[in-house]
Amino acid sequence: MSLIHVSQHPLVQHKLTVLRDVNTDHRKFRELLRELALLLCYEATEDLKLITRTVITPMGEAQGQEAQQTIGVVPILRAGLGLLDGVLQLLPSVQVWHIGLYRDEQTLKPVQYYNRLPAVPTVEICLVLDTMLATAGSAIATMDILKAWGVPQIKFLGVIAAPEGIEALSTAHPDVPIHIAAVDERLNEIGFIVPGLGDAGDRQFGT
Ligand code: PRP
Repeated sequence: MSLIHVSQHPLVQHKLTVLRDVNTDHRKFRELLRELALLLCYEATEDLKLITRTVITPMGEAQGQEAQQTIGVVPILRAGLGLLDGVLQLLPSVQVWHIGLYRDEQTLKPVQYYNRLPAVPTVEICLVLDTMLATAGSAIATMDILKAWGVPQIKFLGVIAAPEGIEALSTAHPDVPIHIAAVDERLNEIGFIVPGLGDAGDRQFGT
């Protein structure tokens, strides 16, 4: 089975189109990101493991199921933050572990500035959030950090990817499924996805 999942859901594609629009303001942009995150998270969690449990309804006993795994959500600062609220709406009990990375504008290599992971892993599965997968340097560095921490299972959840980023991430971490809303044409000479949506951090935060 391919590990690249590009959502075909009509609501995802509609919201993505409005998100891309240069006339979409910061407030609407954040709202759309939250909604997209919720929809993409729904698709990305379809294989979560469940255990059976009995529940008492007003009418008696029913056999139900509940999620079994301890889940960590890892937004990559800053742009990944925009996906956090939507994911937390679906997964309110997860742990949130922030990783701070920015791309050096000359080299496009990720520079780490925030990581407060404890010594021992506290989750069984991590959902890494970042809006854009451009060169994938940021995502690969985050996967490196999480694997060194000892997380057994990792997934990437983003909105737009460049083909170069998909290739790089799936080569560096072939075990990590990639859940996104679109794969665009290419990266330009300054490492931006074309046509993309511009700078996802700036468009969220008005900077
Ligand atoms: C952007 C974006 C991703 C990263 C993607 O972050 O939010 O994190 O670049 O690029 P890559 O796949 O080539 O690593 P940026 O460095 O602009 O920081 P910001 O999110 O704080 O704006």
